[in-house]
Amino acid sequence: MCGIIGYTGSENVRDVLLDALELLEYRGYDSAGIAVKDQETKQTAVYKCAGRVSDLRAICGSETTAAGCGIGHTRWATHGGVNDRNAHPHQVGKVTLVHNGIIENYRELIADYDLAGELQSETDSEVVAALLNHFYEGNPKEALKKTVSKLRGTFALVVLFADQGDVIYSTRNVSPIVATLCDEGAMLASDLTALCRFTNRYFVVPEYHILELHSDKLVLSDFDGNIVEPEYLTADWELNSAGKNGYPFYMEKEIMEQPEAIENTIANRIKGGLPDFSADNVPDTLFTDCERITIIACGTAMHAGLVAQALVKSILHMHIDVEMASEFMYSDPVIDEKTLVIAVSQSGETIDTLEAVKYAKRRGAKCLSIINVKGSSIARESDYVLYTNAGPEIAVASTKAYTTQLAVFYLIVAKMAWSRGIFTTEETQSFVRELQRTPEVMKQVLEHRRDIHLVAKRVLAAKDLFMIGRGLDYSILLEGSLKLKEVSYIHSEAYASGELKHGPIALITQDTPVIAAVTQEKLMSKELSNIKEVKSRGADVVVFIKETIAGSLEGEYEVFELPNMQDEFMVMPASVALQLLAYYVSSDKGFDVDKPRNLAKVVTVE
Ligand code: AGP
Repeated sequence: MCGIIGYTGSENVRDVLLDALELLEYRGYDSAGIAVKDQETKQTAVYKCAGRVSDLRAICGSETTAAGCGIGHTRWATHGGVNDRNAHPHQVGKVTLVHNGIIENYRELIADYDLAGELQSETDSEVVAALLNHFYEGNPKEALKKTVSKLRGTFALVVLFADQGDVIYSTRNVSPIVATLCDEGAMLASDLTALCRFTNRYFVVPEYHILELHSDKLVLSDFDGNIVEPEYLTADWELNSAGKNGYPFYMEKEIMEQPEAIENTIANRIKGGLPDFSADNVPDTLFTDCERITIIACGTAMHAGLVAQALVKSILHMHIDVEMASEFMYSDPVIDEKTLVIAVSQSGETIDTLEAVKYAKRRGAKCLSIINVKGSSIARESDYVLYTNAGPEIAVASTKAYTTQLAVFYLIVAKMAWSRGIFTTEETQSFVRELQRTPEVMKQVLEHRRDIHLVAKRVLAAKDLFMIGRGLDYSILLEGSLKLKEVSYIHSEAYASGELKHGPIALITQDTPVIAAVTQEKLMSKELSNIKEVKSRGADVVVFIKETIAGSLEGEYEVFELPNMQDEFMVMPASVALQLLAYYVSSDKGFDVDKPRNLAKVVTVE
């Protein structure tokens, strides 16, 4: 978690750092800070506070002298509460440092090196600054190597040494750092979002290497001192695509971008109307040789896996498990060399998913990952990668990443059904054609977003809410419910409608609105009965129903008709509608939609 930026170059460093931190705020936003080297006094000045980057901007004011070198940080608290002292950067002696990750042995380090007297905060990060200062005798690389050899845990460290001019040093283990050299100077960050205002060329700093940033050059070396050539990647994200583009919140912008994002995800993977992963270097044997599938992911990405599970069962009749990555390793999973493990992650940095991939590979499984961020840790750890090409997703609540993950899953299912002889070529082409209709159908939902806004007003006052559906509808609602909770703070639970009578119906009253999804024709009549059951217990029911079956709904309900697709694909329009619902509830309540309390976009601590 935590956002990191480092910059040395010709631009006004304070502005570069603060602008970058605003873009990185989605990684954590309980405190923020910068350290800049003053060009005249050669002193390193630290500005930091609890609160948002806007608060930091206010305390930096215009008094900060423009300078050419500095580092910055947005924090998601792990060790120590949210206050000014615990904010980064931490300064001990000649060392000024920002850190992302967790140092597990910080207590031992304090005792072993007698660091207690040097510490002002409760953070593990300040212990690293103190240890680095302890080892520093004028040689930054030696001090970094000695310090890192004592650390247990995950870390991305970015350091200014008081007597090393405008040079920034960095090293890492697990927690990511990307870097680049461009016309304006050299910069590094915890992720690409902060760099893409300047360039779309970047490289991932390898673990246990040291990066030196000078205003006109980068030096990357391993711990033995050998110079290493950075392996540059090109992001296909447009420069400036990380802006809000006129929308009040990123979440709305990203919901609206979905038709285009789906197009970008599928267009180059369809040849002659058939799924084709040759450009991704994914061999067909990956899909024909496996006997079982295990999907590992967290949160929304895991919900995309649940939709895939329903499709794989009904179309491929194969054994498939969906595992929460955080539980995977501890649940004695049944995986072997015949298991195709599919890891799903927007960021490609979620630590639980990353560790689960490593574990699955140790057990002999082949790992295919579905990732949005190019070159991210999970992508690099996997045997094969299918990128979702959704562009930067900044809002903490995931929207376009989810639907593009689904789009990739539809292609995988089509590919497997075809290559295993379950679908004929014509059936595969027809399935793919339906997928290609998705962007158009999503646009229809987006055009009716005002109607969803009206629906949202009906649940604004709710404290608790239920979402009910059957089959694929249940999977969609799990995601819809997560979306609503995380941005609106309404307690929402998704239930398989048939389970209601086994307990939760006791909670239904006139104060618990129910949102029902009815998109699966073969389950419709049972679902309609369940809707009546909650209605007759006083619940205000909102129904999202496929338009071709809407006529079957009798009674007084708030209804939103979803444009027609084949049942397997109704997930797509229904998901967009539920995302809009969550968005409007949150924005109508006046919340900071993009930065819900306690959350961070990238979860890099277990
Ligand atoms: C999404 O709305 C959530 N904030 C969260 O559940 C997210 O999907 C999860 O943390 C997984 O992230 P990843 O896709 O980057 O691995």
